[in-house]
Amino acid sequence: MAKIYIPYGTVEGQTAQIVEYIAELIRSHGHQTETADLKHAGDTLPTGYDGVIVAASVHVGKHEGHVTDFVKKNRGELERLPSALVSVSLAAHGDEAEAEGYVQKFEADTGWRPGHVGLFAGALLYTHYGFIKKHLMKKIAKDKGSLDTDTTRDYVYTEWDGVQRFTEDYLAWLAKPASQK
Ligand SMILES: Cc1cc2nc3c(=O)[nH]c(=O)nc-3n(C[C@H](O)[C@H](O)[C@H](O)COP(=O)(O)O)c2cc1C
Repeated sequence: MAKIYIPYGTVEGQTAQIVEYIAELIRSHGHQTETADLKHAGDTLPTGYDGVIVAASVHVGKHEGHVTDFVKKNRGELERLPSALVSVSLAAHGDEAEAEGYVQKFEADTGWRPGHVGLFAGALLYTHYGFIKKHLMKKIAKDKGSLDTDTTRDYVYTEWDGVQRFTEDYLAWLAKPASQK
């Protein structure tokens, strides 16, 4: 049985949902896991874990600053442990190159090269946004040619099958002897 730590950043809550899904799946495989919203958990990586999955979402071209700070501070430990990055964005819904670009920027900012990377589509949560954010996001969706501009409802693009595959691949990698990682 492995112990996996999942620190994350989220603004509107979709990454938190993805993290809970990953954690449930890890537990269903008989492992232990703990999730931590880095906004409240501080930037210390607790000891005693066998692996780490860092998750963050993209706003205005960047992942959460407190996740970047956490990774910079704990880079040595993240490099020592089998660790992965989950990046949540709208670009991951159809614009893979842009979604990869956000990760490349994150890697350049932090100096960390995660062993596994999952790019997952987030959500347009119009009913949760305030007035300005709602209209800004509607305009962005429209400019990108999306028909998903009905602000009386939400659009969730996360493909849960892909999240499941990523998690199971990560667990298989974690189980390999160090010489094969
Ligand atoms: C104000 C705002 C700015 C955003 N900027 C980007 C962006 O630059 N690129 C992108 O791909 N997605 C962008 N998104 C989409 C978010 O990544 C997406 O909504 C994601 O689900 C947010 O995850 P969270 O709920 O965990 O914070 C933006 C969303 C909002 C509300």
